[in-house]
Amino acid sequence: MNLLFINGPNLNLLGKRESDIYGIESLDQIINWVTERIKTNENEINWFQSNSEGKIIDKLHWALSNDVDGIIINPGAYTHYSIAIRDAISSIKIPTIEVHLSDIENRENFRKISVIKDVCISQISGLGKIGYLKAAQALIKEI
Ligand code: DQA
Repeated sequence: MNLLFINGPNLNLLGKRESDIYGIESLDQIINWVTERIKTNENEINWFQSNSEGKIIDKLHWALSNDVDGIIINPGAYTHYSIAIRDAISSIKIPTIEVHLSDIENRENFRKISVIKDVCISQISGLGKIGYLKAAQALIKEI
């Protein structure tokens, strides 16, 4: 099982940005916590973060030619308006789960809209780092 985690803009600032919303842990700490819980000899796990829409799209295309079985994506603010990321997810046809650390349904109105939701298997929101773990476990079970 080859899993790819993608994190979008500003998630490199976890631990520093709005800790009341996103928690005090850095992205590296979250990566280590999640990876420790799912790593086996059979699972290949890759993490990618970018602040650029195009780089996220390139990584989704990369997944297609690199035998990625499942994708966990937190597109950050791109969630709410990037039709280009939506089209990339839809084009590659690799099972994908959308994750958000915060509960996007219970924040500003503009965060309630996800343009990628219906090209993903499911959306997990508001569980903090546990969301990434649950998404990975669901993909491992499903694939
Ligand atoms: C986020 C929620 C988005 O609305 C926001 O723009 C982010 C992080 C989350 O993980 O809760 O950058 O995706």
